[in-house]
Amino acid sequence: MQLTRLRLDRFRGFEQAEWRPGPGFNLVLGENGAGKTSLLEAVHLLGHGRSFRGRVRDGLVRHGSPSLEVYAEWFDGQQRAHRAGMRHSGSSWEARLDGESVATLAELCAALAIVSFDPGSHELISGGAEHRRRFLDWTLFHVEPDFLETWRRFSRSLRQRNALLKTQPQERQLDAWDDELAEAGERLNALREQQVAQWEPLLFAELASSLPELGPPRLVFIPGWRRQERSLRVSLAAGRERDLALGYTASGPHRADWRVEFEGLPGRDGLSRGQTKLLALAATLSQAAQFAGGRDEWPIIALDDLGSELDREHQARVLSRLAATGAQLLMTGTEAPTGLEAAGISPAVFHVEHGRVGPA
Ligand SMILES: Nc1ncnc2c1ncn2[C@@H]1O[C@H](COP(=O)(O)OP(=O)(O)OP(=O)(O)O)[C@@H](O)[C@H]1O
Ligand SMILES: [Mg+2]
Repeated sequence: MQLTRLRLDRFRGFEQAEWRPGPGFNLVLGENGAGKTSLLEAVHLLGHGRSFRGRVRDGLVRHGSPSLEVYAEWFDGQQRAHRAGMRHSGSSWEARLDGESVATLAELCAALAIVSFDPGSHELISGGAEHRRRFLDWTLFHVEPDFLETWRRFSRSLRQRNALLKTQPQERQLDAWDDELAEAGERLNALREQQVAQWEPLLFAELASSLPELGPPRLVFIPGWRRQERSLRVSLAAGRERDLALGYTASGPHRADWRVEFEGLPGRDGLSRGQTKLLALAATLSQAAQFAGGRDEWPIIALDDLGSELDREHQARVLSRLAATGAQLLMTGTEAPTGLEAAGISPAVFHVEHGRVGPA
């Protein structure tokens, strides 16, 4: 995929701005607070329905404005042109894709694929499990046609069961939702297990290049219940008393997680800050590679402030590998990442200043 045009209205510090990135590597330079990250956030918002820095209501709308607008044009892997726009007030939104209104943000997200790595991305490794679930599900959403319906069914039945648990329900009522939840949950889990198995060799290939010093990695998937011992249906029945006391469903695929272990390293706490970032980056780039394998085109790759996140050697290694893929890269920095020169890459350079994006 290749983003060709981005327009922002009342987005963070921007009153109105327009950017036309080129194919391949793009580097956006500017001082602290100029709006570099905001540009990447805007593309990410169209592709994920949220920013990598949180939800729209957490400050994406320009202070004093009722709503923001983001508009983008891009080519997909078959060189078909697309355009999409979104207006978002923080609580409500409307969006159009290729001239038609969209009913759910998922339609927009399905059309525009972007993976982002930013200074907050270490959370993928060291933060809460919801980051890691969302990460797994992003790939499934894009490469597995069954995923969205399965996920919706699972989420709906989980919501219903949780609501019912709070009402001193009859056994029969709970039985019905346990059946439904177990069926959708087993399916969701099977998709995730399959996804993890396909992702694993791609992740390990990235790690062999970026973190060889930690020794052979192991990827552990955690389904969210004791799956080795019991089906989800049996687990729900066994946990019913506890769930009734808690007022919610304590175990199931909504508690799924994954982690990477390295031989000779006791746990994720053993990783240095930089190693945690490298692991998060390896996860993100192998996720992009898995998308590319399933879809025959690369997602847009956004690297926010790479120069301050990784040392020169690691930057150069990552950038050389990305250059070989032909993926479009959107990078930012207060100055050019030293790894670009080391990798012999000359990006298209842009400058953000006084709320405008222009050629350097
Ligand atoms: N809701 C908002 N309304 C108005 N201004 C905002 C809003 N949210 C953020 N800003 C401002 O927008 C500017 C853009 O921030 P952004 O994080 O994109 O900058 P940056 O170029 O990435 O900076 P850095 O180099 O520090 O990472 C900042 O000056 C910030 O204070
Ligand atoms: Mg920034």
